[in-house]
Amino acid sequence: MKRETRIYSDSIDEDRFDPNQPGSNDQDRSRPAPSAIDASTAAIAGVDELFAIRQDSPLVIGHGETGTFLGSDVTAFLEHTREVTYLDDGELAVISGSGVELYRDGEPVEVRTEQLTWEADAAEKGGYEHYMRKEIHEQPRALRQTLSGRYDLDSGTVDVEVDLPREYLRSIEEIQIVACGTSNYAGRYAAELFESLADVRTTVEIASEYEFDGGRDPWRTLVVAVTQSGETADTLSAIRKAIRAGARTLAVTNTLGSTVTREVDDSVFIRAGPEIGVAATKTFASQVATLALLAVYVGRERSALSSNRARSVLESLRSLPGAVQQVLDREDAVHGIATEYADSEAFFFIGRKYGRSVALEGALKLKEISYDHAEGFAAGELKHGPLALVTADTPVLAVLTDGSAAAETLNNVKEVQARSAPVIGAVSGDIGESYLDVTWEVPDIGMFEPLVTNVYWQLFAYHVANEKGRSIDKPRNLAKSVTVE
Ligand code: AGP
Repeated sequence: MKRETRIYSDSIDEDRFDPNQPGSNDQDRSRPAPSAIDASTAAIAGVDELFAIRQDSPLVIGHGETGTFLGSDVTAFLEHTREVTYLDDGELAVISGSGVELYRDGEPVEVRTEQLTWEADAAEKGGYEHYMRKEIHEQPRALRQTLSGRYDLDSGTVDVEVDLPREYLRSIEEIQIVACGTSNYAGRYAAELFESLADVRTTVEIASEYEFDGGRDPWRTLVVAVTQSGETADTLSAIRKAIRAGARTLAVTNTLGSTVTREVDDSVFIRAGPEIGVAATKTFASQVATLALLAVYVGRERSALSSNRARSVLESLRSLPGAVQQVLDREDAVHGIATEYADSEAFFFIGRKYGRSVALEGALKLKEISYDHAEGFAAGELKHGPLALVTADTPVLAVLTDGSAAAETLNNVKEVQARSAPVIGAVSGDIGESYLDVTWEVPDIGMFEPLVTNVYWQLFAYHVANEKGRSIDKPRNLAKSVTVE
C-alpha cells in the first residue's frame, strides 16, 4: 500500500491543516506552519522522498497504517498512530512510500520505535466543545493514574521508581527546580513540600533565567526539570547547564521518550495522559501530585519524615481525585459567576504558601485563554504596591483553605473589600463570619486543598474565555510546546 507522509505543526486539528493556505485563518495567522508548506511543495513537485533532520528542536516520526507523520510533539498525530520514533540531534530520516530509513553521520542506523500507551480516546474531544474543558474534567482520572501503585498507606512509603540512592539523598544540600510557566508554578508548590516534608532547601528557577552558579556544590545539588512536554527549549537549556556543571538531574514529565528524558539521569512520569489544549490543566495537578510523592520519598529516605506524617500526607493525596470531582460537579455555579464577572477590568488572584502558587497559576490560566489582564500575588504583598490597582471593577479571587494560611489571607481580603473589590473565595472549613461576595466550597482534605481550589480557577478561566468566544484550545500567539529559547 502506498503510504502518505503528512507533516503537522503542533495541532491535531485537521480542519485547520490546509497546505495550500497556510495561516489562512485567524487562529493560525501567528503560526503559519512552514513545515506544512514544505510537504505540499514536495507533493506538487512529484518528490516521493522526504528528508527530515533533527537539530536542537524536537522531531518525532509517527508510523501509522495509513501514512507516516512528522511532528514536534506526538500529540500532533496521536489520533493516527501510537507507534513513534524520536529522532536524536543530527539524525536524518528519509521517508518514502516504502517506509522510513534513519542515518547518523551518513551511516544507516536501526529505526527505533516506541509504542505509546495513551488510550485511544485520549486525543479526541469526546463530546466536549474544547479539549481544555475535557482535560479539566479528566483530572480525577489523571490523578488516580498518577498515584496508582506508587505508595503504601500502611507503611507511609512511596516508590516512584527512581534511582536516587539513600546516601546521595542524605548528602544533598539543595534541590533546584527548573521549569517554565505552569510547570514553574507546580514547581513552586513542590518547593514548599520538599522544604516541609524532606527538610531540604528547595529553590525554583525560571528556566530561561537559570545559571548553575552561586557557589553551589554540584555533588550536593539535585536539579529537577519539571516539564509536561519534555521539549521546552528553555528547560532543556537549563538542565544542560546543570549537567555541564556536574549536578545530578531528574525530569518530572508527562512524555515518555521526550528529549528531556534522554538527557537527564532519571525520570518520573506524571501519567496524566495526552494534553492537547495549549493551556495546561490536568498536567498541573498531576505534576504537583507526582512531586508530592517524590517529596515524601525524599523525606523518608532522609529520615526527615515520620511514617505517621507521611501517612497523613498520603491520605490527603488519596482524597484528591474525589475532592476534584466534587468541584467539577459544581461547574454550573462557576459558570454563572464567570458570566457575571466576565467583563471586569482586571482579575487578581491572591494566596499564601501553597495557595500562592495556585494564585499565580490561576492568573496565568485566565490571561492566556481570555486575554484579560490577570495577576497573581502573594496575598501579603498586596499592600506593598498592587493594592493601588484594586477597584470595584477588579474581582479578587482568594485561596482560603488549609495550606494557604487562610486566617492571614482574610486580612488581605478585608483590604481589597475596603476598596470595594468583589471577592470570590475558595474556602474550606469555618472562616468565621462570611462576608465574601462569592464562596466556593473546597472539600476538607488538608494540605492539597489549594490544588483542589485550582480546579475552580480553571473552570472560571474557561467560562470567562468561552463567554468572550476566545480560541480556547489555541490561544493567540501561543504554542503547546515552546521549542525555541
Ligand atoms: C500553560 O498553560 C502553558 N501551556 C505554559 O506556561 C507551559 O506550562 C510552559 O510552556 C511549560 O511547558 P512544559 O511543561 O511543556 O515545559
